[in-house]
Amino acid sequence: MTIHFIGAGPGAPDLLTLRGRDLIASCPVCLYAGSLVPEEILSHCPTDARIVNTAGMDLDAIIAEMQQAHAAGQDVARLHSGDLSVWSAMGEQLRRLRALDIPVSVTPGVPSFAAAAAALGTELTLPGLAQSVVLTRTPGRASSMPERETLENFAATGATLAIHLSVQNLDNVCETLQPAYGADCPVAIVFRASWPDERIVRGTLCDIAAKLDADITRTALILVGPALGGEGFTESCLYSASYDRRYRPVSAESPWVNWSHGDD
Ligand SMILES: C[S@@+](CC[C@H](N)C(=O)[O-])C[C@H]1O[C@@H](n2cnc3c(N)ncnc32)[C@H](O)[C@@H]1O
Repeated sequence: MTIHFIGAGPGAPDLLTLRGRDLIASCPVCLYAGSLVPEEILSHCPTDARIVNTAGMDLDAIIAEMQQAHAAGQDVARLHSGDLSVWSAMGEQLRRLRALDIPVSVTPGVPSFAAAAAALGTELTLPGLAQSVVLTRTPGRASSMPERETLENFAATGATLAIHLSVQNLDNVCETLQPAYGADCPVAIVFRASWPDERIVRGTLCDIAAKLDADITRTALILVGPALGGEGFTESCLYSASYDRRYRPVSAESPWVNWSHGDD
């Protein structure tokens, strides 16, 4: 029997992979992180499934649920918001399950930074402005940060920053980033991307804090960097008519003319 970790996406119930949906439908037990996983996703569970909201449980209790299902020969769908590769607490569950010799699988989900970028209608890596995205956070009550993973260090790269779990710390974030990015650097805050009550606030590092509604204190992403302005970028070579490439040789003399997929 297997514990299937499934990324449940950013909020909209239809932003779930088909594989995730089918796994949920096949499992007689579903454990879900109720603070962020939308209830609609649970409609994919079998009608007689055991459904447990783990929001109020500790790690021991969650693993005990999984062990109990495993002993009964039942597969488990384990749902976390967004994708599982970031801030899902999957790592500690996998470590315990591997020590117990309980098989696991991992199915990715749509991460919240991608849903936020989609809500903004923005590419985060615009040529000439930014070619990297840093997924980061600021320290919280339950989580300190490794010494070198500071906003100052990431800001020194000029990359697009997708700052999670930090909207309650916005003043500090803006103050810390201004020396590297400048006070006029574009910022967008996306609250509950893809949920029906999604909200977007746009501004700059010097005015965004004043624009943010006071009730937005969690489930929001702060996106910072020149790419958020959506202007002043160059076009990529990929679709340039003059760029010689294997899928579109520009002339009969191109070295790509006789290339075939077998050469790869
Ligand atoms: C515990 S982390 C979970 C991240 C998740 N695993 C992911 O792939 O995005 C929770 C943080 O992710 C961000 N987040 C999650 N869902 C969001 C959404 N729908 N809209 C905006 N931010 C979201 C917020 O910064 C929130 O504080």
